[in-house]
Amino acid sequence: MCGIVGYVGKPPVVGTVLDALSRLEYRGYDSAGIAVFNGRGIEVRKRVGKLKELIASLNTQPLEGQAAVGHTRWATHGEPSERNAHPHLDCRGELALVHNGIVENYAELKARLLGQGHRFRSQTDTEVIAHLVEEHAKRLPLAEAFRSALKELRGSYALCLIAKRDPTHLHGARAGSPLIVGLGRGEAFLASDVPAVLARTRRVIYLNEQEVVELSTSGVKLTTLNGTPVARKPSTVSWDLSAAQKEGYDHFMLKEIFEQPSAVERTLYNRLDAAKGQIAFDHRTRAFLSRLSSREKFVIIACGTAYHAGLVGGYMLEELAKIPVDVDLASEFRYRAPMLDRDTTVIAITQSGETADTLAGVRLAKEQGAKVLAICNVMGSSIPREADAVLYTHAGPEIAVASTKAYTSQLTVLYLLTLSLAKRRGLVKPARLRELLTTLGRLPRLIERSLAAEPAIKRIARRYARARNFYYLGRRYNFPSALEGALKLKEICPRIHAEGYAAGEMKHGPISLIRNGWPVVFLATDSTVYEKVVSNIEEVRARKGECLLIASEGNRAIRRHADALITVPKTEELFSPILIAAPLQLLAYHIARLNGCDIDQPPNLAKSVTVE
Ligand code: M6R
Repeated sequence: MCGIVGYVGKPPVVGTVLDALSRLEYRGYDSAGIAVFNGRGIEVRKRVGKLKELIASLNTQPLEGQAAVGHTRWATHGEPSERNAHPHLDCRGELALVHNGIVENYAELKARLLGQGHRFRSQTDTEVIAHLVEEHAKRLPLAEAFRSALKELRGSYALCLIAKRDPTHLHGARAGSPLIVGLGRGEAFLASDVPAVLARTRRVIYLNEQEVVELSTSGVKLTTLNGTPVARKPSTVSWDLSAAQKEGYDHFMLKEIFEQPSAVERTLYNRLDAAKGQIAFDHRTRAFLSRLSSREKFVIIACGTAYHAGLVGGYMLEELAKIPVDVDLASEFRYRAPMLDRDTTVIAITQSGETADTLAGVRLAKEQGAKVLAICNVMGSSIPREADAVLYTHAGPEIAVASTKAYTSQLTVLYLLTLSLAKRRGLVKPARLRELLTTLGRLPRLIERSLAAEPAIKRIARRYARARNFYYLGRRYNFPSALEGALKLKEICPRIHAEGYAAGEMKHGPISLIRNGWPVVFLATDSTVYEKVVSNIEEVRARKGECLLIASEGNRAIRRHADALITVPKTEELFSPILIAAPLQLLAYHIARLNGCDIDQPPNLAKSVTVE
């Protein structure tokens, strides 16, 4: 959480930092700030609220200079306020620092620094770092002082610092929070994420854990915390700027919903040959899969939407590949005593690759001798780097806080993995495999047909936009779809309470809440449990709930059970979650829009949850 940017280069320095910050606002948006070295000293401007408040202030009273650091915040320590907003300064206002992460030992460091005479202005953990660097810089050159300060920190950080004493350099470091270097022509960036720099460069260096960087327009010096030089060539990212822009859509979320056919297509590209019944993975993943034992057990760990993809994965891996699977929330997994051994593979699913709980789960798994396979969207992020093998989703940058195309791309990878394992284990006949792979290859077109339901979904959204409680119910493969549909709605429309439930569990409690007109979204596509779902629909109707059904095209009989109906292409049960996803996302989107919600930046949320 929090987006950080540092820049040295050509004017307009402030405009460049603001543009970069605008592409990181998904990481937090309760306050924003910038510090600029103006040739004489450091000037700071901060505003509470979104970046646009800071931009408005800078339009009225501009700042300009040669180097700057900027920040968009998601508060951890200290309420959102100007004094708690970053950048933070040392006592003399001669160095400015932005931070993403949490300094766990800040209280003890602060007590010591107060004793040494430092004056604090904020309630944040971050400010101690500025004073700590100041303290070390009394005796050491700045770069060394920075590294010495870092050695005293416990917790997580991505940091960027500018100082009056060395104004042509940015100083950065990472431990537990992401940081990249962007190398342009006569300019250089530090940023939390690649989209921040895409408008200017696609040449990036990903910092590893505990690495420190000193950066100017003429070069990069990468070292360990001890100052040992590290050699790393820049990589060229394949994403282009359009991927990080709205391109005519009103919201990133809507754009990303409609990008799903191409995201799934890219994720399948070069991996699938349906006619030959083949699935191809990269060399490292192939080697990894070939090492799995016949007793192998899987534990899928993830958070939020990625967890819902994992739940679907659990059903398919058990059904088709006959591998025992536990699916766990990473935040729970890391604090229970999981029984892991050499015959366990932990599959970590994550869009960002930086989610703190999932990363901690990966580390726990490795400590206990399990293997780790990551499913991730962001190349070079922490989780794939710590995993033994990686299956990348190729969804492109996902900017909206609500995850959409990352989810369907995760499902796509899980289909590939499941069918590949089923084939390796001889559990699927060649003709059946070709049939399943052919459907897999057609998913992008089938998702397009699901998206075509948008006009009907808009009408349904208008009808139910004023409701304040929703249930989402499904069974088997679509129980996770119910959880995901409810999460989408409550996430982007905080005025509404939405709950996903296993349809068969209704009678065990929740049905008592159903009242006249209470909307219940039923996932009622053709499946082995279709008739059970229809019985559950009737139970809700008997209590005067309103049944909004998502069903398979061509199912005429279901109409009499429906107060509102959305149809998706008829398909095999295991593929139904990926076709149901888009209508659920669109329903949430249009209800939120009618309620005037801030769809891309819902209150109190941030896209990457890099703190516990
Ligand atoms: O980056 P990750 O996939 O690890 O993120 C996990 C969750 O934080 C994320 O899916 C979150 O639940 C989304 N905002 C849901 O739309």
